[in-house]
Formats: sequence, C-alpha cells, structure tokens
Amino acid sequence: MTANINLPRILRIGAEASQMLPATLKELGLSRPLLVSDAFIVSLGWLTKLQQQLDQEGIFHRSFTGVVPDPTTDAIYEGLAVLRENQHDCVVALGGGSAIDTAKTIAAMAERDQPIRHYKVPQTLDDGLPIIAIPTTAGTGSETTRVAVITDTETHEKMLCMGFGLMPVAALVDFELTMTMPLRLTADTGIDSLCHALEAYVSRRANPFTDTIALASMTAIAKHLRTACREPDNRVAREAMMLAATQGGIAFSNASVTLIHGMSRPIGGLFHVPHGMSNAMLLPAITEWSISGAPSRYADCARAMQLANASDSDDQANQKLVAGLRQLCADLQVPTPASFGISNEEWRQAIPTMAQQALNSGSPANNPRIPNAEQIAELYQGVWTN
Ligand SMILES: [Fe+2]
Repeated sequence: MTANINLPRILRIGAEASQMLPATLKELGLSRPLLVSDAFIVSLGWLTKLQQQLDQEGIFHRSFTGVVPDPTTDAIYEGLAVLRENQHDCVVALGGGSAIDTAKTIAAMAERDQPIRHYKVPQTLDDGLPIIAIPTTAGTGSETTRVAVITDTETHEKMLCMGFGLMPVAALVDFELTMTMPLRLTADTGIDSLCHALEAYVSRRANPFTDTIALASMTAIAKHLRTACREPDNRVAREAMMLAATQGGIAFSNASVTLIHGMSRPIGGLFHVPHGMSNAMLLPAITEWSISGAPSRYADCARAMQLANASDSDDQANQKLVAGLRQLCADLQVPTPASFGISNEEWRQAIPTMAQQALNSGSPANNPRIPNAEQIAELYQGVWTN
C-alpha cells in the first residue's frame, strides 16, 4: 500500500516562530494578508503584535476577529465578506482550532458560491487562497491538516470538511503563545492531541510514516500534559506539548481519526461541549471497546505512553492502557456528559441523531473494530455517566 503524505510547505517550530510572519509572507510571494482571530487573542495583545510586525514591513493587512468557539457557517460568511472587500491574497490564522478552522474555510470558500454545507465530506475543498496558521493552543493540530470542522448555523451539525484547499501552506508553531493558556483549555486541547495520535496509530489507514510520529506524540503527551496543566509556566512541558500537538495533527491528517472523533463531533455540535473535552469523555470507553480489533497496536500505545513495559503481554498492556486513560481523565477532571449538565432524557433523545452523524462522517469506518449504528448508540448510552 502506498501512503499519501501531505504537509504544509513551511513548518517553523520553536520559540519566536510566530515573529516570522513577514519573512514567511515574502518567501511565499504574498502581500495582502487577512488576519483571522478571536476576542480572547485580541485581549492578550497578540493580534496587535502581529499587526505591528506587518506595519513595520509596510505589508497591507486587515483583520477579522469574529471567530467563535465551534466555528459556525455564519461567522465564516462574515469573514468572507471582509476578505472580498479588500482583495486579500492569503489568510493568516492566529488562535486555537476555531480560529484556524475559520481561516481555512474562509480561504477555501473565497471563490465558491454554494453554501458551505454543499462542500462537507464526502465532497472536497481542493483549492483556495494560501493559508498561514499560527496556533496558540497545543491542541488541535489544525495547522498541519487538510481538515476543518464547521458547525452549520441552521442545523447545528458539526460538519467535517476536507481537501487540499484547507491545508496551510505554512505553520508558525511557537510554544510561547501557549504559556498563558488556562488550565481547562490546556487539559482539553492536550487530550485532543492524545486522541489524534492514538487514533492515527490504530487507524486502518495508519502507515509507517504516521506511526513513528504518532508514537512520539503519545510519549510526549503522557510525560508532559499533567505538568503543563499543573505548572503553566513550565517551558519544557509547554514546548513538548506544542510539538506533540503538531505531530498529532500530522499523524491524523495522514492516517485519519477513528471512532472517538466520529462520536465526539455530534456531542460538540448538539451540546456545545468543547471539542477536546468531548473526546476525553469518550476516550477510555471507546478505546476499551475497540481494543479487540487491533490488540497489538493498542499495546504499542500503552508502552509508548509508559503505562506498560516490554515484559507485559499485549493483554496486560491493554488493561493498563484503559486504566491509565481513565486515570488521566480523572486527574484532569474531565466531566461525564451527566456531570457536564446534560440530562439523561436529552442525551437519550439525541443518540439516534448523534449515531447517524457519527457514521456519516466516515471516521468510524477507520476504527480497528467497526461499529454499526446500534453499537454506536449503545456506546453513547454507556458513556453518559462513566
Ligand atoms: Fe480533534
């Protein structure tokens, strides 16, 4: 089997990488960026810093700061209006996954007239304006993927959009931007990264290129996530988590996510649970259910995360994996859907829709053990309280 690997053309990784925007634009022959960000990033002063860099170099720019969490089609149409007013030649994202996914979709929709829902998977968005991503969370990995997740304002469906038009041409990955991330965001985005790496490794579309990256990512997250949460100023932990998040993004973009993400998106879309947190709600139970489809692969994950060692059998390693994931979620105070405030009645009523949306996304088909709609419904019911 041939593995198809897609990456940004330019990856700059390390302290101060975010200060290299003017140089990166010049390198790419771009001169009229639209900056896309959100109110939180604006309040931290980081957008102003970026604007000052561009001003110093005499580069024309405008900003759209209407990014919302769980980016909506409405927010993208607003950003598109700004883009079209000023004839920009590229889009720069500054923020977490929501800002990056918004910027990516604005760029890919620049020349398109149909509603965004027309382009969701299985359709593709294969061209658009160049995108430069500057992530501020160690999390989504969106800076290295050709995926965007957009919530349809009318239907509340979290739509998966894919295509080369959504792949950033450059990513400036600067861990110093994550030093002020609050604890909950650090925990949720860190578990999102862990899911990316773990799902990519056990995916039916895993390949030797993504395997090494996914394992390295899991090792680093297991070692540094708790520290990054406990000690927000710990540069070693922050730097390791940022690299692991980018690696997780590269791994899943080239091997796909599986059942956890497939089931997580509908929870986010219907109940507004943050993306990483809805993954975390599912991580131990879905892993436990899926292990029989690829026991040796899951055992590799347990060993990479140092939850098990070489002398453990695969079976022992996998028991330790599930226990270790449960402990991680407990340590990071991940709620259940019930303790998040979703009533059993609401949850049960939503299950058929969530199961159908999960299946439609295609992600469950990459899982080592492939579920049908009924099994997905049972899994949803099972995670409500544990
Ligand atoms: Fe994710």
